[in-house]
Amino acid sequence: MRKKRLVEGTDKSFVLVVLAALIFGFSFTNTEPEGLFVTPSLYRTGALESNHALPFILFYNKWSCIRLVLVRRGVFSERGIIVSKVINLGNVTVYVEDSYEALGARAADIFAEALAAAPTGVFGFATGGTPLSMYGELIRRYKAGALDFSGITTFNLDEYYPILKSNDQSYDYFMRENLFNHINVPTDRINLPNGEAPDPEIESRRYEAAVRASAGLELQLLGIGENGHIAFNEPADAYTNATNYTSLTESTVQANARFFASADEVPKHALTMGIKTIMLAKKILLVANGAKKAEIMRDALLGDITPRVPASALQLHRDVEIVLDAEAASAL
Ligand code: PGA
Repeated sequence: MRKKRLVEGTDKSFVLVVLAALIFGFSFTNTEPEGLFVTPSLYRTGALESNHALPFILFYNKWSCIRLVLVRRGVFSERGIIVSKVINLGNVTVYVEDSYEALGARAADIFAEALAAAPTGVFGFATGGTPLSMYGELIRRYKAGALDFSGITTFNLDEYYPILKSNDQSYDYFMRENLFNHINVPTDRINLPNGEAPDPEIESRRYEAAVRASAGLELQLLGIGENGHIAFNEPADAYTNATNYTSLTESTVQANARFFASADEVPKHALTMGIKTIMLAKKILLVANGAKKAEIMRDALLGDITPRVPASALQLHRDVEIVLDAEAASAL
């Protein structure tokens, strides 16, 4: 009898827990132990052995729960199409915008807020096709007198190696062309890994030391590769700790070939901040657009935390804002 009551009691409390989970959705950002945010994937990796949020996780079916919360909040329509703007996954906020231009404006809003809070802060920039609408918007707002970059220091994520700064495919060139030449950031406070350095290993150490000696990144902007890379941290067996000299995977070479005359011309090596360098930023802002990024956004945000999907590390960061268009968000 006693045993049966116990079982019944347990069932009742589990039912209550499930109801609470459904009512409060993702608000179980338990901060024990060691201040880590608890995510479903973190549990499944076994990284935490005990936590008061465990009952939530036991009953937590990622897919159905996310869908339920999103429908309840009006983010998904009944047909599962995204009709609204903000998905709150606890430490990660996902904004879904209906156009590439709107994505750029939202990302610029987030950047502008961080800049207003730290006008002499250190900001991390990124290259690639995705940030261009955001950069266009930052330039427009600067020209309209709404933004002032005169106090900031910048660090870019990565650079091909070897490459001349004058090469129009270098990230140095890209940043000058698409942002730095059009705003008032002082040129002596712009930092990129040097693709002209004689020794890539020494250059990696120099760059890491420079990032670490700075006041710390207020915000790091990221794109994401179709293979889940952030910066040039490609899928691997382990996360990288510091800026390093690395080889590009074939899929990255193919993805970047669109900027070159042919895939043969894409450099096969690069200098890149490490995952840890990136994770030390106070805030992460990731942008992605297009259907090609849909599956990897799902894997990065909702899948296991694994260096095979480098961006999945962001699930463990305390403050991540992600701006997607509806296509890139379509698998969430
Ligand atoms: P993309 O690149 O913005 O050109 O898609 C992103 C990346 O590879 O990080």
